[in-house]
Amino acid sequence: MVEFTLPKNSRVTEGKVWPSPQGVNNLREFKIYRWNPDDGKNPQVDTYSVNLDDCGPMVLDGLIWIKNNIDPTLTFRRSCREGICGSCAMNIDGQNTLACTKDMAEVKGAIRVYPLPHQPVAKDLVPDLTNFFAQHALIQPWLQTETPPPEKEWKQSREDREKLDGLYECILCACCSTSCPSYWWNSDRYLGPAVLLQAYRWVIDSRDEATGERLDNLEDPFRLYRCHTIMNCTKACPKGLSPAKAIAELKKLMVERRV
Ligand code: SF4
Ligand code: SF4
Ligand code: FES
Repeated sequence: MVEFTLPKNSRVTEGKVWPSPQGVNNLREFKIYRWNPDDGKNPQVDTYSVNLDDCGPMVLDGLIWIKNNIDPTLTFRRSCREGICGSCAMNIDGQNTLACTKDMAEVKGAIRVYPLPHQPVAKDLVPDLTNFFAQHALIQPWLQTETPPPEKEWKQSREDREKLDGLYECILCACCSTSCPSYWWNSDRYLGPAVLLQAYRWVIDSRDEATGERLDNLEDPFRLYRCHTIMNCTKACPKGLSPAKAIAELKKLMVERRV
């Protein structure tokens, strides 16, 4: 069997155990990945104790409590705290999900928090998603038309609008793409489930008039066809969407237009 060894400077070490708050009984342990690009040290996992009597129920509440009460250098992204912006996506208890909608009570034992896997890390829990968003730009995620624009809005039948259900809700959190093995190994060329779901969202929009060009853009051995239907993406999506289904629909359209 092939054995992979991480380079020395990537090995995650045991980090600091921060002192527990005094006189508190209702504590929850967090083990959090820390890495600072400026100090030249290896990544480490620090241990913190959160006072649950003074903290909201979600994992994001715990992280904010730690930042406010124990360690202001802990770095993570968040904005909406209600599952809308996608910025708090991270790996919690071994699963990619949103910290703001993940209830601490769902996790047994210490709450382990890591950045989204297989992306470069900017700092601590913040992944560098430059490539992910460049791939999103590549599918040209906006309405493209040749017909002169109507005076008011572009109209759509109720049935055509319903075709966008299960797609428009995507918040581009990247939980699915970063749980996809094909994306781990080929993220430079394979677009990954999130971006392909977005591509399909524009392909099937009845108002869009660039369907042929959009499919041409995906006609490539890597961009679309590196999906091997492993389904990790659909299991990972915190919004209950199915990128794997969207990818299957795209592949079907590719075949249909050849015959
Ligand atoms: S179904 Fe396709 S996109 Fe989803 S995890 Fe599997 S290989 Fe990746
Ligand atoms: S499909 Fe789901 S997991 Fe993937 S980016 Fe969209 S919301 Fe996130
Ligand atoms: S903070 Fe916006 S999705 Fe979690």
